[in-house]
Amino acid sequence: MRALITGITGFVGSHLAEHLVSSGDQVAGISRSGRPPADWTVAEQVTVFRGDLLDPRFLREVIQTVQPEVIYHIAAQASVPASFQDPAHTWRMNLEGTRTLYEILCSLPPTRRPRVVFASTGSIYRAATGPVRLDETAELAPASPYAASKAAADLLSFQVAVNYELHIVRLRCFNQIGPRQRLGFVAADVACQIVRAERGEQPPEIHVGDTRAVRDFVDVRDVVRAFRLVVDRAEPGAAFNVGSGVGRTVAELIDALVGLSTVRLRVVQDSGRLRRGDPKSLVADPSRLRAATAWQAEIPFERTLADVLDDWRRRLPPRA
Ligand SMILES: NC(=O)c1ccc[n+]([C@@H]2O[C@H](COP(=O)([O-])OP(=O)(O)OC[C@H]3O[C@@H](n4cnc5c(N)ncnc54)[C@H](OP(=O)(O)O)[C@@H]3O)[C@@H](O)[C@H]2O)c1
Repeated sequence: MRALITGITGFVGSHLAEHLVSSGDQVAGISRSGRPPADWTVAEQVTVFRGDLLDPRFLREVIQTVQPEVIYHIAAQASVPASFQDPAHTWRMNLEGTRTLYEILCSLPPTRRPRVVFASTGSIYRAATGPVRLDETAELAPASPYAASKAAADLLSFQVAVNYELHIVRLRCFNQIGPRQRLGFVAADVACQIVRAERGEQPPEIHVGDTRAVRDFVDVRDVVRAFRLVVDRAEPGAAFNVGSGVGRTVAELIDALVGLSTVRLRVVQDSGRLRRGDPKSLVADPSRLRAATAWQAEIPFERTLADVLDDWRRRLPPRA
């Protein structure tokens, strides 16, 4: 299949590209920097177009050149803290960028329109206060500009799918973790500090924010399999949760990572690391996805964390 990935150089997009290439797809993608991850195994097999999703002319040209049969719309402003710092950019990128893409696709003759898989998020739901798994009928109540803009783009995707002949499927992904994630996400932040401490570049202390939140941590390499599976196994407008279905506190994730370190470490609560827009409990009920595709998370949590730590050991440059 000919596939186009928006946001191909990012955390999710780069893993998706590897999965699609290994499945035999022809893969192209876009990003502003065009800078792929250093350890990308498919740099020679994919075409990366440098440009801005918010530039309709660029986007139209890429779509004309690639003639994709499926577009994985992954590009976004994906950071919660950055969304509080610059809500206007977050809304422009996440909602207007998505609307621009759909407008271009709807201008194509119906038989030449690619299918679309939209990367939505579990953070669009109202957080639970107890041990509840959220299915796709759960109330939407996004708690940050990031989550609100993704909720709006998720609803836009449904509306376009039902009003126009554009086959869009929404994947509501919960907390993805894995190699290549950048700082600003808890597993990456903690792993980076552990590696610095192992090298003696910082005291044997790991500084963390609120660790009580319950999250559904799922390996990004499991999640990207779901993207390909739903392309031809879902009705236009369908929404699916993608998560392990297991709730863990942030403290559990931190303790497990610290347990993998080669040095003894102390975990320190740091009020400077507390974040706005951190909902209490977000855990997926992924039953609908499983029923439609037989997908389930397969990579054990402990292996993901070991891979995250090894990734930071490899890629973190020594402190000057
Ligand atoms: N990470 C998670 O746990 C998680 C959970 C649920 C949902 N999601 C969703 O998954 C998607 C990917 O997240 P991620 O963690 O992979 O984010 P990421 O690492 O920040 O990657 C974002 C990608 O989008 C590109 N991009 C950003 N703005 C662009 C623009 N204006 N034009 C063209 N390309 C642009 C970036 O490349 P350049 O910077 O070079 O442009 C990069 O390739 C997002 O839609 C996010 O909402 C993520």
